[in-house]
Amino acid sequence: MDKIKVLFVCLGNICRSPMAAGLFTHLVEEAGLADRFEIDSAGTSAYHVGELADKRMRTTAASHGIRLTSRARQIRRQDLSDFDYILAMDRANFANIEGLKQPSATYRSEIVTMRTYDAENQGPDVPDPYYGGAGGFEEVYAILLRSNEEFLRSLREKHGL
Ligand code: 4NP
Repeated sequence: MDKIKVLFVCLGNICRSPMAAGLFTHLVEEAGLADRFEIDSAGTSAYHVGELADKRMRTTAASHGIRLTSRARQIRRQDLSDFDYILAMDRANFANIEGLKQPSATYRSEIVTMRTYDAENQGPDVPDPYYGGAGGFEEVYAILLRSNEEFLRSLREKHGL
């Protein structure tokens, strides 16, 4: 059976999308579905390429039992052909990913904003915590937990997992 390939995308690939990928990996493992998924993250910018996730995001993740080990990379057009689902953390990320498309080409990826799956639906964007205080990282975690639980539930239904 082909793996379901999921890519999480934010601006820097050091805060929100590494947390989203780490959390989704954790949920998939808990569900005993690890062998059915390939999970990655990327940034629309190249600002932090090669870096580990932000220390504050890694600390928040660790406090919830999740180890973030990713190194930042920039999204490339090929990702739109390689991944089944691309989850954008905010509307600017979504627009930038869509902007990679060449007119008249077709792509495998279904591109959606992460909070499409947030049942509490308190806004369209996962807020960027980079320039804010420590509370922002915990808020990002809570949003991503709700959203990823629902995203996984919808995938299980759709793919009969
Ligand atoms: P992220 O946060 O997109 O969640 O990784 C950011 C990290 C760095 C910058 C912006 C957002 N930056 O401008 O350097």
